[in-house]
Amino acid sequence: MLQELYQPNQDFAKDARIKNMDEYHALVKKATDDYEGFWKAFADEKIDWFKPYDKVLDESNAPFVKWFDGGKLNVAHQCIDRHLETQKNKAAIIFEGDRGDKQVITYLDLYEEVNKFSNLLKEDFGVQKGDRVVIYMPMIPEAAYAMLACARIGAIHSIVFGGFSSEALRDRIEDAEAKVVITADGAYRKTKPYMLKPVVDEALTGETPVEKVLVVERNHEEVTWVEGRDYSYNELIKNKSAQCDAEPMESEDPLFLLYTSGSTGKPKGVQHNTAGYILWAQMTMEWVFDVKQNDTYWCTADIGWITGHTYIVYGPLAMGATTIMFEGVITFPDAGRPWKMVEEHKINQFYTAPTAIRVLHKTGEDEPAKYDLSSLKVLGTVGEPIDPPAWKWYYEEVGQSKCAIVDTYWQTETGGHIVSPLPGATPIKPACATLPLPGIMAEILDPETGEKVGEGESGYMCVTRPWPSQIRGVWGDDERFKKSYFGDVTKEGRPVYFTGDGAIYGENGYITITGRTDDVINVSGHRMGTAEVEAAIKKHDNVAAVAVVGKPHELKGEGIFAYIVLKSVKDDVANELETMKEINAIIKTEIGNIALCDDMVFVPDLPKTRSGKIMRRILRALAKGEKITQDTSTLEDPTIVGQIEALVNAS
Ligand code: WT7
Repeated sequence: MLQELYQPNQDFAKDARIKNMDEYHALVKKATDDYEGFWKAFADEKIDWFKPYDKVLDESNAPFVKWFDGGKLNVAHQCIDRHLETQKNKAAIIFEGDRGDKQVITYLDLYEEVNKFSNLLKEDFGVQKGDRVVIYMPMIPEAAYAMLACARIGAIHSIVFGGFSSEALRDRIEDAEAKVVITADGAYRKTKPYMLKPVVDEALTGETPVEKVLVVERNHEEVTWVEGRDYSYNELIKNKSAQCDAEPMESEDPLFLLYTSGSTGKPKGVQHNTAGYILWAQMTMEWVFDVKQNDTYWCTADIGWITGHTYIVYGPLAMGATTIMFEGVITFPDAGRPWKMVEEHKINQFYTAPTAIRVLHKTGEDEPAKYDLSSLKVLGTVGEPIDPPAWKWYYEEVGQSKCAIVDTYWQTETGGHIVSPLPGATPIKPACATLPLPGIMAEILDPETGEKVGEGESGYMCVTRPWPSQIRGVWGDDERFKKSYFGDVTKEGRPVYFTGDGAIYGENGYITITGRTDDVINVSGHRMGTAEVEAAIKKHDNVAAVAVVGKPHELKGEGIFAYIVLKSVKDDVANELETMKEINAIIKTEIGNIALCDDMVFVPDLPKTRSGKIMRRILRALAKGEKITQDTSTLEDPTIVGQIEALVNAS
């Protein structure tokens, strides 16, 4: 195995924050020997407290835990104000628009914009501490201002990815009982304008908790304005004061909600709170990307996902870095776009998803060689397991065999990375997330016994102690929080956190993530619950039953495969195609384009046990084209498997 490992670049390592494995092990030991002391030291060093906390960790009501209770701070102050004294003129955000337009926003600019935005929300919209504000925005600087303005005044933001449909937006608005929506008329994609405001209008028809809508005019296309509800940001911001005190927040006051899919039911509002979240966002930025004072860092995610929250906005700004915000499409005008941007902005750390790496590799294998990529030091990947060929191309062609690849494993719920290489210390291996970060008690457990698995064995990826940036709750549903993440397994009396992922425990304790063990599909690094997609498909009048599974997909990682039982079957192909189109149209309005089915097969029935449980394992295997070897005699109708198999093969 040793020759499979790529050792850290020693030139890089000598200046890295964590320089070698001895330093890594020393940190791990510190956390193991004195867990609270470990976190206390970092909380004291990294956070600019308004008022010191009384207690590091309160586990008395686990799994509801409190970190740094009694302390007061403000995340916008942590991300902006505290940097003004030393670097007010440093670029905080470098924006690159879809059409190549650029804007540099210094820390002082950011301070003023966020303060004005905060005053607008308070004065014109009556937003108060604890109110929920939904943000439905393109990738423009105002999206970051909106997040930070909420943080500054203590409002709880809930960002909804701009690709979600009006129905998905409506569900999230209602669940959070949001009072305000911040949106834009639209933005640009591949130089053409596209629209967001009409989706908001649609989501707000009928009864809604939303009182006011703030519209950033980005592409200046025509939109409808509802009198007394809709206001132009560009107008209102003009006369706002650039002074606004940051609200002193309790450590455990909620910072934001972010809705994500689970295995059952509707998406859940994952709640992150103030102190613990920002501490780990900052620490992982420093450790995992090792960004230095004069570096420029680019994460290609959208702010609608957790990666955009922690690693475009909060993490980079908390540590005072320069973060790139990109509105466009990374393969447009060609697959050299990101490398052109690396050359132009002299980007030092680049963070993206395997699905993007695969597309850039497939459609622009030779593009990296056309640009000067010598500024790059660390390359990151996140969102799904990366396949070794894509990893190797990324390492050799983009990183020129001198940059560490940090395969960062984490989730919406973990707030920040939990398993990842450290670029100056950890020997890396293609497609392997390697080791738990110091302070994170990540272990692979046997789901039956709760025991740690042995070398070479697989089990469930778990975390056995609470950590500062972990999910604090599912909005409005404590039971669902407990049920979704904490089973009966305890370790030293503590409930164990289940990630829902499977993993293999390799040599030297190296962790390889194998993917979800539940009914969650990972499409291009985006989480889709099978239940959500099934609920949408069932809205079609002619659908009697449906089961959705993931199927390996060359570019997306996983595609969505639907087995559908129709109520009335007209045996003609034209009719079937028409029904498929109708079903995808429903998915588009219910969820959005990201949930469209790649494959649909109409089947006479689904494979069910006698107690009525759908055997998804069989459906997953059939979708992959695998032969069914397992015992099917417990099925209500064992012949159905052969029938479905024939239909899948014919489709
Ligand atoms: C799920 C979380 C974390 C930000 C983006 C996605 C999968 C994430 C990796 C990785 C293999 C990964 C897991 C996880 N995942 N990172 N490095 N290797 N799988 O956030 O939407 O909450 O999805 O993404 O399955 O549970 P998310």
